[in-house]
Amino acid sequence: MRSYKAKMVEPITLPSREERESAIEQAGYNVFNLDARDVYIDLLTDSGTGTMSADQWAAMIRGDEAYAGSDSFANLAESVHDVMGFEHVVPTHQGRGAENVLYGVLLEDGDVVPNNSHFDTTRAHIVNQGAEPVDCPSPASRDPDSTASFKGNFDLDAGRALVEEVGADSIPVVVLTITNNSVAGQPVSMENIRATAEFARDIDALFVIDACRFAENAHFIKTHEQGYEDASIAEIAREQFEHADAITMSGKKDALVNIGGFAAMNDEAIFEHAKQRAILYEGFPTYGGLSGRDIEAMAVGLREAVTPPYVGERVEQVAELGDLLSEADVPVYLPTGGHAVYLDASEIFSHIPKEQFPGQALVCALYREGGVRGVELGGFAFPGTDRPDLVRLALPRRTYSREHLEHIAETAAEAMANADEYDGLEIVEEPPMKELRHFSARLKPVSN
Ligand code: F0G
Repeated sequence: MRSYKAKMVEPITLPSREERESAIEQAGYNVFNLDARDVYIDLLTDSGTGTMSADQWAAMIRGDEAYAGSDSFANLAESVHDVMGFEHVVPTHQGRGAENVLYGVLLEDGDVVPNNSHFDTTRAHIVNQGAEPVDCPSPASRDPDSTASFKGNFDLDAGRALVEEVGADSIPVVVLTITNNSVAGQPVSMENIRATAEFARDIDALFVIDACRFAENAHFIKTHEQGYEDASIAEIAREQFEHADAITMSGKKDALVNIGGFAAMNDEAIFEHAKQRAILYEGFPTYGGLSGRDIEAMAVGLREAVTPPYVGERVEQVAELGDLLSEADVPVYLPTGGHAVYLDASEIFSHIPKEQFPGQALVCALYREGGVRGVELGGFAFPGTDRPDLVRLALPRRTYSREHLEHIAETAAEAMANADEYDGLEIVEEPPMKELRHFSARLKPVSN
């Protein structure tokens, strides 16, 4: 059951098979190069692609566009305080803006920053400050078939080993990403949040949470962690942040908006310094690169994210897609995460060797078979790593219906059934920064 209905609709069309084949070829077998109008169901990302509520649109009309000290900023500060418990907020144009502002304050050349897993922009901003990001994912995350809860956890043993290796003085910040996007959207338990905060305190480091999907994470704590069955999502959401010194937030995820983000903290000195960086990179610290109406939508969206039944329905819809795919015998990473289903391309296209990007070949096959756009998060997106060849199907919030999910599952089953029609791919053109190649490289089938 859905607790909302559509108030506005956007037409989508499924181009013919010939049109899809021609579009993917012209896109250089890279779905980032497709025109969105040629995509039937767009699962490229859950970031900024969701549907806003009538209340959010209404709030946008009230947006106060004052350069400094707007009412909209005051509303956001109040929401962040009520929902997340922080005293200070610095709005930014999106999550990576918050990373640039905050990590520029907290890091210096030569620092080392452990995280359960860095998202790509977080990693890039830490590197940009001259520091070294280190992933400490839980060992359970390496088994795609284990249905253990909280496979997104921070591995404290790995954290402690890192302290032994580089010394506590090199680690000014410990980060925790909830949910863990780089590990199939797996959640982090409250116990692990507490333990990671304690680990940070023990080595005199600040504890920062990458809070993008904090409401989805709270839902998993409520449904899977002992002692939280009767707590409300709002209570759990706040408790997650109790031990954090600061957060970075992409509003495009769990603040249910199309654009926006912020950093939040309690410490006055960090706040003052962050405001100076915000002026340099984002805008005056009461608008941070956003219009007043964007800020209003984010203030309302944050509250909606923790108001039932929103997030329960959201995570259950993602699980429903996972179930439909499993029923069609399509191998998926288990359990299903909060915002996306991850397909195991090395199994689905087991005839394609890793160097020929089975994940990217599967992404192209999903588009060819059914106009579905996913994203490769394996050897093509992360060159030089041994990341498993997963394909992420990220569901936009409050956007697609059961029939769309069925089409996605049928499309994936079709791609699997026709596996021998699909070849591996080779890169024919790539940008100078290898790390960014999956956004723009052009490829071709190895047999052409
Ligand atoms: N942190 C995490 C965990 C993210 O997933 C993202 C964005 C960011 C930070 C950066 O936020 O895009 O607002 O600047 N993830 C999107 C994705 C892009 O598709 O997973 P942003």
